[in-house]
This record gives sequence, structure tokens and C-alpha cells, in this order.
Amino acid sequence: MDSIVVKGSGPLSGQVPIAGAKNACLTLMPATLLSEEPLTLTNAPRLSDIRTMAELLASIGTEVAGLQDGMVQALGTKEITNHVAHYDIVRKMRASNLVLGPMLARMGYAVVSLPGGCAIGARPMDIHIDSLEKMGAKIELKDGYLHAKTDRGLKGAVVPLRFASVGATENILMAATLAKGTTVIENAAKEPEIVDLAECLRKMGAQIEGEGTSRIEIQGVDRLHGATHPVVTDRIELGTYMLAPAIAGGEVELLGGRRNLLEAFCNKLEEADISVTETADGLLVKNNAARVKAVDVKTEIFPGFPTDLQAQMMALLCTAEGTSVLEETIFENRFMHAPELMRMGANIEVSGGMAKVVGVDQLKGAPVMATDLRASVSMILAGLAAEGETVLSRVYHLDRGYEKVVSKFNGIGAKIERVSS
Ligand code: UD1
Repeated sequence: MDSIVVKGSGPLSGQVPIAGAKNACLTLMPATLLSEEPLTLTNAPRLSDIRTMAELLASIGTEVAGLQDGMVQALGTKEITNHVAHYDIVRKMRASNLVLGPMLARMGYAVVSLPGGCAIGARPMDIHIDSLEKMGAKIELKDGYLHAKTDRGLKGAVVPLRFASVGATENILMAATLAKGTTVIENAAKEPEIVDLAECLRKMGAQIEGEGTSRIEIQGVDRLHGATHPVVTDRIELGTYMLAPAIAGGEVELLGGRRNLLEAFCNKLEEADISVTETADGLLVKNNAARVKAVDVKTEIFPGFPTDLQAQMMALLCTAEGTSVLEETIFENRFMHAPELMRMGANIEVSGGMAKVVGVDQLKGAPVMATDLRASVSMILAGLAAEGETVLSRVYHLDRGYEKVVSKFNGIGAKIERVSS
């Protein structure tokens, strides 16, 4: 299995092009199930999660083109030929559950495996299920699969979410585009990936208002048509590479970055003494201080600090001057990177959803492994600041969410190598 070897580097400089968002692409791709006409996505990232979604859609009847370089996804679903999303694909990636809403809307029935637990928590689907039931679906759990059907199609309804779930908002939004009448999602998630999905669906002929706010109103239409849509910038990849100069020193420009994708995160970097400036082409991040300052961080739904940047931020705070407290409010089990960072000399105490991080003068390279995507990249960031060599195993986690990770880091002066054993 491959591993990544990171050598501590000096200050970084240069530019990193930021890819299209994995999480946006994973909800835009199932939107193809809503129309007989093709959906073309440009700026799609080259990632294994995207290939997994393509594999799932192909198993349902979608023709997928343009996967070879990952940049253009032409997806066409003239007919849904199979109504089962099987466990062997769904278990690889929770976002597979995003086929449920569109399949139900287009065909009136769908059988979708429950994803099961994942490394960062139980991640149930009750909000998706309750909401689709409010729209007239009957959903039963049998043999680990959700069997969903509607008698006479989905009907518009007022759907209040008990929590602003990103995936549930996406599933309901897609389902509601073809439902009869008006659907109102209350307490909807406001993440940029949802705004991107709504913009794409509107290009396909959907009638949607209010995306980006907590109340989204959708007027169902009879059919949707094809469209071409560029995937929004990946704010999590953006934040990850912003942390590279923050932790190793130097000055890096993130091409395609926008502050409004990550306002709360940028504010925290500035509080830690990192400068963030908007440029004509993106965002410029500079760390001129010898050591960053400790800051407290609490993960929240958008526009708050994203849970998907908590592990990477923890890596930075391990090297800060003073004590930081990180609070994780979105997932119940998302500090598994802490013991790995401690193997590199970090001083962290985890208690429930809180982690106290006392900054140390110097991290030390070590063999580490991570149990999820964002935790893996936090080890690379820590390795940049560490003395000696850090060897990261289970690299397949990184391949799920970071395209060209070695060349992007090396392009700004890091010393990273992928080795096969
Ligand atoms: C999406 C992102 C993921 C990110 C997360 C939170 C994708 C493909 N993934 O995941 O990277 O970390 O948003 O920003 O876009 N919950 C329930 N019941 C439900 C649904 C969710 O209890 O029916 C809980 C989850 O267990 C979790 C919380 O709500 O604790 C947030 O989940 P949700 O917003 O749904 O995240 P995902 O859409 O799975």
C-alpha cells in the first residue's frame, strides 16, 4: 500500500490552483437522475469519490463520459434501468444516499442501502426519511435497505428539518423539483454546495428560491432538461492549502479562492496572526510571525467554522503559542487525529466534544495513519512543521478528497513524496 513521506520544510511560496468541490460534485452528479437529457459538469475534481459516484450512477442506468481525466463529467440518464443502490457501493461513500431523492422523484420508487457507520460518527438518515415521508413517500427499512415508494408521485409539503443537514437538504431539494406543488424546506442547510446545486437545478428548469438562506421554496415542474454547470470551488481544499503557509511559514496564493466561502475560518486565521488578503485571482495567505497565536475554535453549520477543517486547524494549533480549545459540534467522534498528532509530540487532551491543545515549540516526524480524509491531510500539514520525517499510511483516504496532493504541496516548496511498498 502507498504511503506519503513528508519532510519538514522551510517557508513555502507560490500558488496552488484550487479544484472544484468534491462535496458539490457529489450532489450535482445525482441530479442527472432527474432528467432524460444530459448534464455536463465542468471543473469536476479528479477524485476517487467522484469515480465511486460515477460507478453508482452507472449501475442505475446513467451513461457516464469524460471520467478519464476527471475534468468533464457528461452524465445522461435516458432511463433508470435499475432501482437499487447496492450496499457494496454505498458503504464506500455516504454521499451515495443522494440518489434517493432524485430516483424517487423520477420513478416513484427506489431501494437504497443504508450507508452504515463511518469513522466520524453514526450519521443516521432520519432527517432524509422524515422529510421525504412528509412529501408523500412511504419508506420502510428491510435487510439494511431503505425501500421507498410513492403512490401517485411526490407532493409538495412544508418540511422543517430538526437539524440543518447538508445531505437531507440536498435530497429534498432534488426531490422537490419534480414534486406536485410547492415544497418549503425550513431550517435548510446554507452551505455553498447547496447554492451550487440550486443554481444547477435552475439551469435544468427547476423553480427554486431562497437557497443560501434557511428557507428554500421549490415549485415543482413536470420535467427538467439538460444543462452545463461549472462546479463551485472546493472551500475545504482551499482552507487546507491556506493552512500550509500558516503552519510552515511563507506566502502562498490560492487560485480561485474566495473569502466568502470561508469567512469564519479566515477570521480565525487572522486571530492567530496569519494575514489573508483577497487578490485578483484568489486569496493570499502570509505568515510572517515566528509562531501563530492560540485561538479557540467551535465547528458550526455554514457560515460557521466548517467541521471539515477542524482536523487541519488542530494541526496548526499544535504549534501555536498558548492553549487553544477546539469544540466539535457537528460530529460526535471527530477527534481521531488527536492521538496521531500526539505521536508527533503534540500536547492534546480530548474530553467528549472538546479538545484542549497546548502549543509546543516543535513537532517531531513520526509514522502516522489516519482514519478519515480530513484527518489524513492534517498529518501532512503537521509534517510540514515537524522536525524529521513523517510517514503517512492509508493514503486512500486522501485520494478520496485531494487531487494531485503531492504536486500541489511540492509546487509551493514542500518536500512530499508518495511511495509504494
Ligand atoms: C456533508 C459533507 C461532509 C460534512 C458535513 C457537515 C458531503 C458529501 N459531505 O455530510 O463532508 O462534514 O456535510 O458539513 O457533502 N444527521 C442526522 N440525521 C440525518 C442526517 C444527518 O442525525 O438524517 C446528523 C449527522 O449524523 C451529523 C450531522 O447531522 O452529526 C451533520 O450531518 P449532515 O449535514 O447531514 O452531513 P452530510 O450531508 O452527511
